[in-house]
Amino acid sequence: MYSLLEQLRQHVSQALVKAFGDDYADTDPLVVPAAKPEFGDYQSNIALSLAKELKQKPRDTAQQIVDHLEIESISHPPEIAGPGFINLRLKASYLESQLQTIAQDSQLAVEKAETPQRVIVDFSSPNIAKEMHVGHLRSTIIGDCLARILEFRGHDVFRLNHVGDWGTQFGMLIAYLREASPEALTKADALALGDLVTLYREAKKRFDEDEQFQKNAREEVVKLQKGAEDSVRAWKLLCEQSRREFQVIYDLLGVELTERGESFYNPFLRETVQELEEKGLVEEDQGAKCVFLEGFTNKSGEPLPLIVQKSDGGYNYATTDLAAIRYRIRQDGAQRIIYVTDAGQANHFAQVFQVAERAGWVPEEVELVHVPFGLVQGEDGKKLKTRSGDTVRLQDLLDEAIARSRQDLERRLAEEGRSESEKFIQKNARVVGISAVKYADLSRNRTSNYVFSYDKMLTLQGNTAPYLLYAYVRVQGISRKGGIDLNTLGNQTISLEDNSEFVLAKHILQLSDVIKEVEQELLPNRLCQYLFELSQTFNQFYDRCPVLQAQEPKRTSRLMLADLTARTLKLGLSLLGIEVLERM
Ligand code: ARG
Repeated sequence: MYSLLEQLRQHVSQALVKAFGDDYADTDPLVVPAAKPEFGDYQSNIALSLAKELKQKPRDTAQQIVDHLEIESISHPPEIAGPGFINLRLKASYLESQLQTIAQDSQLAVEKAETPQRVIVDFSSPNIAKEMHVGHLRSTIIGDCLARILEFRGHDVFRLNHVGDWGTQFGMLIAYLREASPEALTKADALALGDLVTLYREAKKRFDEDEQFQKNAREEVVKLQKGAEDSVRAWKLLCEQSRREFQVIYDLLGVELTERGESFYNPFLRETVQELEEKGLVEEDQGAKCVFLEGFTNKSGEPLPLIVQKSDGGYNYATTDLAAIRYRIRQDGAQRIIYVTDAGQANHFAQVFQVAERAGWVPEEVELVHVPFGLVQGEDGKKLKTRSGDTVRLQDLLDEAIARSRQDLERRLAEEGRSESEKFIQKNARVVGISAVKYADLSRNRTSNYVFSYDKMLTLQGNTAPYLLYAYVRVQGISRKGGIDLNTLGNQTISLEDNSEFVLAKHILQLSDVIKEVEQELLPNRLCQYLFELSQTFNQFYDRCPVLQAQEPKRTSRLMLADLTARTLKLGLSLLGIEVLERM
């Protein structure tokens, strides 16, 4: 089934061809949701833009289109308004039949992409032996959501965790561990990442203070790069311990990722730089190999370099990303590569993409996209910190969200005089707490900073996860109360009589348009907004229209509508990485 918007587009397109000829077959019919309810449900603005080239008055062009528009099954007679807008008002009978079609499909008739792509989503990507901070949390939540949406649309998605598992920090760490706790270099589990982070700080301090230690650390880097057995073993151990800590967070969030860290690309760094040299892109600058960038200049207007090999022969973050692009396109066959990181890395990616393109590594059909996001701030508007001023550990942050949601739940249970099992309380607290954190992040336009507030994200009112989860629970409550198994409703007739039913139906049917929009624009907040409005329109419907008390056939029709709302919410939330609850 085609989405609402696509069906309308198709009809207007056909009218354009009939009215003005085949040359207009590919003209975008400019159909959009109506700007105001009094203009109907959708409008086409094509007459205004076509009139000029047709040398007509826009209203005349609109009239010609309307004369050829065969849309009676979908819309009431189109109206021409203002300078030449074509307003379309959907018919209830059309919405009813569409709802019946989607009701029969477990995926609510959201179609799969016509040409599925091989997509890589590069997200989360914390650094080994450093803490996984809230920036990585954002990347994890947003990246997972985008991956889910692309997977749902039938793309072949590869979720890659580009962990920072290589670099000079390992020399320092290994040198320090040799001094401070040599057993940690040979025995698994001698350290937890919490300790590793402290160790990193201590090692850094030592490094800054002691020249002999600096020398040791540099030698360790060289040893590791040469593949000395005990250095490699120590490095692997450090990675393994970090990995286990990261996994705790991923499990709690329900996020799946394939780890392929920076070290994976080590064998390809040399040939990557060599190929850049062969293409004549590399120049030497103070001993370093650089590519001078187009459009990036310093204060005096000279082009900035991207260093691809340092003067000591070492490679860097950018070289690794260049090697990764090459590998991902050639070996993985990626057609779209999506990088989810904080906005601070926008220049890095713009530069790396430019060099990859100039090297001819990016075929025309391949798209490289950086998906930037803003900072997470504390309620004081500053960088999120603990009370003592330290960076917040993710584990603590998530635990706190769960603990607070548990408190809220227990308070509510006490107020309502309900008693629930410990199992129920635990599951509810976890689902609500984690959902609240995810939703708070996803519901903002990701490019802006957002203020992290437990109180706001956990409230039952407003654009929050608990509000949406509650709308879903309301429907399940109807079915429990009426002793009705919604799964067995089958294909009953839906009839939309009250305006709130009509509004709800129209909203339900926009799901596939919204999903496709997010697939293109990579903005999860659009889906959140849609689900929030869906919950609101459902609540308005439910306030106005009795369901269980209604007479047949109205009763069944309304049950169908409630069930479709719940299924849409469940599906939409699952694409955000949020599970639903049957009771709250
Ligand atoms: N490890 C990096 C960081 O913590 C993020 C890596 C993002 N992905 C990439 N291909 N550069 O900032």
